[in-house]
This record gives sequence, structure tokens and C-alpha cells, in this order.
Amino acid sequence: MEKLKRGGQPSPPATIRLPSRVAYFDHNATTPVAPDVLAALLPVLAESYGNASSIHQHGQRAKQLLESARRQLADRLGCSPKELVFTSGGTESNNLALAGPHRHVITSSLEHPAVAQPLAHHANLTVLPPNAEGLITPEALRAALRPDTDLVSIMHANNELGCLQPIAELAAVAHHAGALFHSDGVQVPGRLPLNLTALGVDLYSLSGHKMYAPKGVGALYVRQGVQLHPQLYGGRHESGRRAGTENIPGIVALGTAAARPLTDLSALRDRLEAGLLAAIPHAIVNCAAAPRLPNTTNIRFAGLEGEALVIGLDLRGFSVSSGAACSSGAVEPSPALLAIGLTREQAKSCIRFSLGESNTADEVDALIAATIAAIAHLRKLSPTYV
Ligand SMILES: Cc1ncc(COP(=O)(O)O)c(C=O)c1O
Repeated sequence: MEKLKRGGQPSPPATIRLPSRVAYFDHNATTPVAPDVLAALLPVLAESYGNASSIHQHGQRAKQLLESARRQLADRLGCSPKELVFTSGGTESNNLALAGPHRHVITSSLEHPAVAQPLAHHANLTVLPPNAEGLITPEALRAALRPDTDLVSIMHANNELGCLQPIAELAAVAHHAGALFHSDGVQVPGRLPLNLTALGVDLYSLSGHKMYAPKGVGALYVRQGVQLHPQLYGGRHESGRRAGTENIPGIVALGTAAARPLTDLSALRDRLEAGLLAAIPHAIVNCAAAPRLPNTTNIRFAGLEGEALVIGLDLRGFSVSSGAACSSGAVEPSPALLAIGLTREQAKSCIRFSLGESNTADEVDALIAATIAAIAHLRKLSPTYV
């Protein structure tokens, strides 16, 4: 390899002094595994390695753990244990719920790719836009229903905006027209109380890693009597609805997570919003008038790129996320932000802060101060902000 002359060597990178402690405000992307969930999981991983289909003691112990976790989750969700199918996570639950020969399907333009993509090639698909507050109204759904509509899929809480759809009303409208109702509820169970029976949904997806359990485990609620179209062929696990040896440690963790009390984060979230809006001009909370998840705020800061602010906050010790994702090398604004009527430029200037149970008021105050400083710096450099 050619040797560089001393003078031709690149100058050493400037030392980046990383903050000693990073505060995490990205719980809608994923949550940490809670210490008590980890404590329940580890012995299962180490000792209860039986296959729940085996008839010997090791197998029966695994089966007990499986069914006890199913009961814990059913208690949390207000349903029967028989109505739960364990899966590998939210993506699989959505794919399983949506599979089958549907004649006409209605969904929304707010959906996560785990719903939008399985439906993308359906020949008879209606995609409903939300109103400016990010809501699909029962009237809009009623107007889109056709005599051949047999499935409606509308997410419960949007992962980026936090807005909560009127699921009970939407499910009732779908049922009135004879259609099944699925909801991607991945963002909800770790944050709000739920009763799926009262909500009236037929299918409901959830994921362990959004509720303080690990990645790679989730569940699909299937109301008794609703026919599923299994996607994995193999053994008769999960009553023939999902083949594959059950992930007992993950499922125990999910059951333990489901039994934990919820932490109400709305006061901390409101403190964050109030602090930012009071100090930063041209900051607007997206979907502020809609019912929202208590842990989420999505804010548009005019005159900057959200990605730059994510990096600026990362360097100051805070993990947050923007409403844009890198796709094929270019930063693309999120479809959900475009769906509520933002321009591409506006959508790219949004930041999502999503709180979790370990965040403190001190961390929130430090985040406010860091955001104020990072935005002042970025706006000084911005050609569009004067
Ligand atoms: C609303 C929503 N649906 C589905 C998923 C996918 O879940 P998983 O990562 O468990 O496959 C996510 C994860 O980001 C999500 O936020």
C-alpha cells in the first residue's frame, strides 16, 4: 500500500467529546427491557429450555410458562387467552392478520410499513387520508365502505405522531357493513389501559419491544370465531395458527411486561412541550388537538432539517428521532407526516420525542435546554431561516 508522506496525511479528526450519559427519548422506536422483565427472562433462558410440545417434564414446564404468559397478556388486554397467538413481533402479527383472499380492503395513509407493505399490491385497496389532526373519522370510513369490503385495517396509535384513532367507533362502522376490523396496536399496550373485547376489534397486533420486553416476540389478538390464514406452514403450534417452536423466554418476558403497572407520562410530556414552545419561536406541535399517546410529542421546528437536529441532540447526549428516514441514500420525509398535510420541507423539519418510564423531570429539563441550544445553532446556519 502506498505510504502517505507526513505532510500528506489527513489531519487527525477533531476530538468529539461525547457526553458521559445519554438520555433516551426514543421509546416509540424501541423500549429498553425493564429490569424485572429481564429478571423473569434470564432463568428461563438458562434453565427452562424444554420444547413446549414435548411430553416430558422439561416440555411440560415450558408449556406451563407459555400458558401462564398467555394468561398474563390476556388479563392485560381484556380478552380470553385462547384469543392470543404468539408471533415474532408486530410485523409478523400484521402480516398474519392481513393475509387471506380479501375482496376489498380499506386502510389509512398513516399506517406503518408493516401494514402498508403487505397491502400495497392488493387489487382492491382504498387508502383513507386522515384529517389535519391525523384522525380517520367514522364518517370518512363509512363513506369508503363498499358492499364487497371485507377488511378494514386502521392503526390504533401512530408511531410518529402519537395520535389515537377512534377505534371503537371505526370497528362498529366496519362491522355494520359486514367487514372485519384489524388494528395495528403496537404502540399502545405499554402506554395505555386496554380492553380489546370492549374495543370491539377482530384482530389486534402488538409487539414486545414497545412495551419493555425484548425484540423478536409479539402477539396477535384474534377474536373468537375469526378465521386466520396462517402464513407459516409447519407444526401445529399455537393451535395451528402459527407454526414454529415457541420462543418461551421471549413469551415469558412479554407476559411479565404485560403484568407491569403503567406509568403515566403525560405530565412529563406536557412539561417538555411547554418548555420547548415557550422558548423556541416557530415551533408547532403536530396533531396537538387530537387525542394522543401520553408519551409522544412530534414538533415541527421551522427552518431546520430534523436529521441535523437529531445529530445535534445526539452530540449533546440525547437520543430522539426525526420524521424522515434514509431511503436509497436520500432523506425521505415520512408518509405519515405528509398524510396530515405537511409539505416535504415541513415534514423534514419535524422531531419526535417519545418518553419512557425511566425518564425524569431533570432529564426533560436538560433536553429542553439542549434543544434550545441546538436549534439556535442550526438556525444561525440555515439559509431559509431569517
Ligand atoms: C406502529 C408499528 N407497527 C408495527 C411495527 C413493527 O413491529 P416489530 O418491530 O415488532 O416488527 C412498529 C415498529 O416500529 C410500529 O411502530
